[in-house]
Amino acid sequence: MSELNLTDVAKSYGPVDVLKNINLDIEQGELIVFVGPSGCGKSTLLRMIAGLEKITGGTLEIEGQVMNDVPPAQRGIAMVFQSYALYPHMTVRENMAFALKIAKMPTAEIDAAVDRAAQILQLEPFLDRLPKALSGGQRQRVAIGRAIVRDPKVYLFDEPLSNLDAALRVATRIEIARLKEAMPDSTMIYVTHDQVEAMTLASRIVVLANKSIAQVGTPLELYEAPDNEFVAQFIGSPSMNLLSGTITGTGEMTTVELSSGGIARSAVPTEDSDLGKKVNIGVRPEDLAMTEESAILSGKVDFTEALGEVTLLYFEKTNGADAVIAKLPGVQRNLRGQTVSVTAAPDKVHLFHNGLSMRK
Ligand SMILES: Nc1ncnc2c1ncn2[C@@H]1O[C@H](COP(=O)(O)OP(=O)(O)O)[C@@H](O)[C@H]1O
Ligand SMILES: [Mg+2]
Repeated sequence: MSELNLTDVAKSYGPVDVLKNINLDIEQGELIVFVGPSGCGKSTLLRMIAGLEKITGGTLEIEGQVMNDVPPAQRGIAMVFQSYALYPHMTVRENMAFALKIAKMPTAEIDAAVDRAAQILQLEPFLDRLPKALSGGQRQRVAIGRAIVRDPKVYLFDEPLSNLDAALRVATRIEIARLKEAMPDSTMIYVTHDQVEAMTLASRIVVLANKSIAQVGTPLELYEAPDNEFVAQFIGSPSMNLLSGTITGTGEMTTVELSSGGIARSAVPTEDSDLGKKVNIGVRPEDLAMTEESAILSGKVDFTEALGEVTLLYFEKTNGADAVIAKLPGVQRNLRGQTVSVTAAPDKVHLFHNGLSMRK
């Protein structure tokens, strides 16, 4: 039995559909990350699981029990929000103990729960401080501590790091990864729009788009084998390049003549019937390398960005398509304004027809 099952879950506000056909099984111990563009319904889905938002279609089960109409407090879940909203006049210990006190848990049990959470979160030295005497990262840990003391079946996090500055985000991200390791049986659902958080924390990523699930998979499955152009371009930075073309050779290896004049070979196999099909090839900037031979693209480098570890080349746009970007290792000097040819290994060339991957 899965920890959490969503079957055909839908949400609408009056006539406006926000989410539909959400089907997802989550196993105990997973850390599931919801990603997707702003406004795609990540928070709404999380809030429906929490019981803070009514489910307008389908069923939500936790440990096999239908939860659609069960009040939030009885679902065995705990939610950590972006704004941590600690009680300013209470110490760290009091903040963490508060919900248990309200629930009239015996004092000795409360103390034990708070001590355990403080140990997991390394908050022991701060238990007697007020929130104002803590850094942003420490405050966020207290907010997580308030969830841990309740020993929930499922933890829900809605962009918990987005109020922190860049350096603290990285540090806190690593803490959350450690926290998950310290609680291997806890199930967590984590919403973020930060790719790096999604890639590093998730056991599986759920990409939400167009009111529904675009793909579910491990971070590397989504990176290496995106099912559609949306996921292909959403995961990875800079985005995967898409170039339009026509299939001119089929078999174990597929040949595509590109509208921009280049030629691409893909290790995605195709059949005779695919000959002449209009497709997009997809190739990640980091999979392009300079070549002297037949190229996916030969073009003028319009602009470069030297990041030290890599150099980004932005090619001049051709017939209205997005500028192709190549990410070359190390420092590459004096390429701006030059004509450069780039290509990719066939196993790095994705094929899309009508927006969907042609990989079987
Ligand atoms: N109370 C509401 N009434 C109408 N529409 C809403 C309401 N709350 C959220 N929405 C809409 O639902 C969509 C999803 O919102 P949200 O879940 O907050 O997105 P995300 O967290 O992915 O940025 C948005 O288009 C938003 O405008
Ligand atoms: Mg949101």
